[in-house]
Amino acid sequence: MDKIKIGLVGLGTVGSSVLKMITENSDKVQNITGRSLSVKTVVIRDVAKHQNQVPAGVTVTTDLNAIINDPEIKIAVEVMGGVHPAKEVITKLLNAKKHVVTANKDLIASAGEELAAIAKHNHCDLMYEASVAGGIPILRTIVTSFAADYITEVKGIVNGTTNYILTQMQRKNWSYDLALAKAQELGFAESDPTNDVEGIDAAYKMIILSQFSYGTHLKLANMSVEGISTIQQSDVQQADAFGYTIKLLGISRRIDDGVFAEVGPVLVPKDHPLATINNENNAVMVTGQAVGETLFYGRGAGGLPTANSVLSDIVSVTKNIVLGTTGNSFNNYQSKVGKVDLNN
Ligand code: NDP
Ligand code: HSE
Repeated sequence: MDKIKIGLVGLGTVGSSVLKMITENSDKVQNITGRSLSVKTVVIRDVAKHQNQVPAGVTVTTDLNAIINDPEIKIAVEVMGGVHPAKEVITKLLNAKKHVVTANKDLIASAGEELAAIAKHNHCDLMYEASVAGGIPILRTIVTSFAADYITEVKGIVNGTTNYILTQMQRKNWSYDLALAKAQELGFAESDPTNDVEGIDAAYKMIILSQFSYGTHLKLANMSVEGISTIQQSDVQQADAFGYTIKLLGISRRIDDGVFAEVGPVLVPKDHPLATINNENNAVMVTGQAVGETLFYGRGAGGLPTANSVLSDIVSVTKNIVLGTTGNSFNNYQSKVGKVDLNN
C-alpha cells in the first residue's frame, strides 16, 4: 500500500509536535484513509540544532529543493511562520505540485487569496485549520456545520498568549513581563511576540474567520486593533474587584453594508462564558441566523493541540489524493461564500 510521504518546513513548537503525531499516530490515519503517513524530509535553518530531534531515516536539511525535487513527497507542511520567506516557500511548493498544509495566519490573512489561486491553478490543496485558534477545529466547523446557515456574528478569544498573560496577572498577581516570558517559554507566543501582545495575531485570525463566515476579505488597515501591552496589574485587579475580567476579544459582525471587525481588551462580566476561558485556551462564539449562538472552546496555542489541527488537514488532503479530488480545499469553499449576498 502506498505511503504518503511528507516534507516539513520548520521544526519548532508546532513542527516537532507534527513530527511526533505523524510518527506515533500513522496507524490510525491508515485505518481511515488506507494510506499511512511518514515524514521524509525536514527543512530548517540550523541542521546541527535539529539533527537529534528526528527519527532515523528522516533527512534534515536547509535546502527546500530536497522537498521540491522529490517526487515521492506529496504533502508539504509549512510551520516556519511569518510572511517572508514563507510566502515564497509555499508558492514554490505549490508550483512543484505539492499539496500544502500551513498554520501560518500572518500569511493566510495577508496573502491567502493569492496563494489559493496558485493552489487552484496547480490542482493542489491548500489547507490551514491550525491558523485560527490552535486546537479548536473552527474553520472546518464553519465550512461543514454552518454550510446552509447565514453567520451574523463571530467573536471570542483567539490569542492564547494574551489570554495566558491576563489569566496569570489576575489569578497569580504576576507582572505582565513575567507572564509574557512564561508564555514564550511554553511555546505559545510567536518568535517575536509583538503581534500577540499588540492584538495583530488576533486580528489576522478575525480576518480569516470573517472570510469563512461572510466571504468578505477584511484588511488589517481597516480594523481597529488594540492589544494588552499597556494593561497594568492594577487595571486587572480593579476590574476583578468590580466583577469583571479583562479579555482580549476579537469581534466581527455583519452590518448593513458589509462587515465590522475589531480587536481590543474588553471588560467581560465574570458570569459571561468568555470570562471563564483561562490560560492559553481560546473560545469562539459563532452566531447563525438559524442556529443562534454556539460556542467552541479548546487550547488555542501549544504544540500538540496545534499539531492535531495540522494533522486534520493532512488527513483531508490524503483523502483527496486517494479519491482524486485534490484542488477541492478551503479556498474553493471561500470563493463560493464570497458570492453570497450579505443583505439577504
Ligand atoms: P517556532 O519559532 O517554534 O519554530 C519555527 C521553525 O521554523 C524553526 O524550526 C525554525 O528553524 C524554522 N524556520 C524559521 N525560518 C526558517 C527559514 N527561513 N527556513 C527554514 N526554516 C525556518 O514557531 P512555532 O512552531 O511556534 O510556529 C510555527 C507556525 O505555527 C507559525 O506560523 C505560528 O504562527 C503558527 N502557530 C503556532 C502556534 C503555537 O502555539 N506555537 C499555534 C498555532 C499556529 P530553526 O529552529 O533552525 O531556526
Ligand atoms: N501565538 C499564537 C497565540 C499561537 O498565542 O495564540 C496560536 O496561533
